[in-house]
Amino acid sequence: TRSFSLAVIPGDGIGPEVVSEALRVLDETARIHGFSFTQTPYELGAERYLETGEVLTDETLAEIRGHDVILLGAIGGRPGDPRIPAGLLERNLLLRLRFELDHYVNLRPTKTYPGVATPLRDPGEVDFVVVREGTEGPYTGNGGRLRAGTRHEVATEVSLNTAYGVERVVRDAFRRAQSRRKKLTLVHKTNVLVHAGGLWSRVVDEVAPEFPDVTVDYLHVDAATIFMTTDPARFDVIVTDNLFGDIITDLAGAISGGIGLAASGNVNPDGTAPSMFEPVHGSAPDIAGQGKADPTAAIGSVALMLDHLGLPEAAAAIDAAIMADITERTGPRTTKEVGEAIAARVAGDVAGA
Ligand code: NAD
Ligand code: IPM
Ligand code: MN
Repeated sequence: TRSFSLAVIPGDGIGPEVVSEALRVLDETARIHGFSFTQTPYELGAERYLETGEVLTDETLAEIRGHDVILLGAIGGRPGDPRIPAGLLERNLLLRLRFELDHYVNLRPTKTYPGVATPLRDPGEVDFVVVREGTEGPYTGNGGRLRAGTRHEVATEVSLNTAYGVERVVRDAFRRAQSRRKKLTLVHKTNVLVHAGGLWSRVVDEVAPEFPDVTVDYLHVDAATIFMTTDPARFDVIVTDNLFGDIITDLAGAISGGIGLAASGNVNPDGTAPSMFEPVHGSAPDIAGQGKADPTAAIGSVALMLDHLGLPEAAAAIDAAIMADITERTGPRTTKEVGEAIAARVAGDVAGA
């Protein structure tokens, strides 16, 4: 039987709640589909920091790196908590993992589900994937504050874009488009951010001839938000920078029926370090501890993980179970009820086949 090692970082807020359900579904899927895995839990996040002052040590990072894959819930305290400096956990834990493990493809698929309430009146058949660059852009911490706290303060946040970094993610996006509906949309803001935008456009133009049957188009990010709400079915693969990708994938989650449905993978396509799978949403302090977080995004992230590990049938079984569960949702259910229902469908799926 196939076997793999999994590092689990439940994290903060609803993170542990949704990860329990994701693991429940993973267990069931392993049982039915005949693979096995070992798991190592890592207690990282706000609580760990408040107790020990530690966020992520080099030793822990090295240990995590030794696993085949990582499952993460969510990282981040309650916004405005005075005990935790802004961005400390996000930067030194979550982004550090993405950067050090070279997760340059942040894969964020979006679908609409028949019968599921979406804020759009008639979204049509939506099925697109955002390939968000994961290691560069304005996320590198390249900036600073001069004369902080004075009326003459100057704050900069520099977006870092390298030809190497842009080319590898663009090429990955073309490959994905090639194996899907063969349409790639570059989303940027080339009319204002002319330096970074120029690089992204040039790279897309240069790589395009290698994929002659992929149609390429371009949207400014502001216009992309219009089409994402008026005609989301037009998209197949979107490639974009780290910050634009962050913003448009929360929007994508909302149009598909809620951020609690949006799964993601931080992928290292070269296999030089473990990839990490996590819901798009955060720790949701407003609903944490109430058992009402939707675990579907975390469960969908497990499907992305299994696909990445070369277990596409097991992944498809989870996706089918999610689809069946979602389309039959009626009243509100607890986090655990949703997890149990999807796990049961994974089991039934095969028994009935
Ligand atoms: P959020 O995604 O945590 O919450 C936004 C809204 O969506 C909230 O109303 C929340 O209740 C709702 N929501 C989120 N997930 C849900 C789910 N599974 N089911 C039902 N409702 C859900 O974003 P935020 O409030 O901006 O951030 C809260 C904290 O999470 C911050 O510290 C932020 O930095 C962090 N964060 C972490 C990640 C991550 O770990 N990848 C992602 C986003 C935000
Ligand atoms: C996400 C989150 C993170 C991001 C934050 C918490 C650093 O919003 O995973 O979408 O911006 O990438
Ligand atoms: Mn985000």
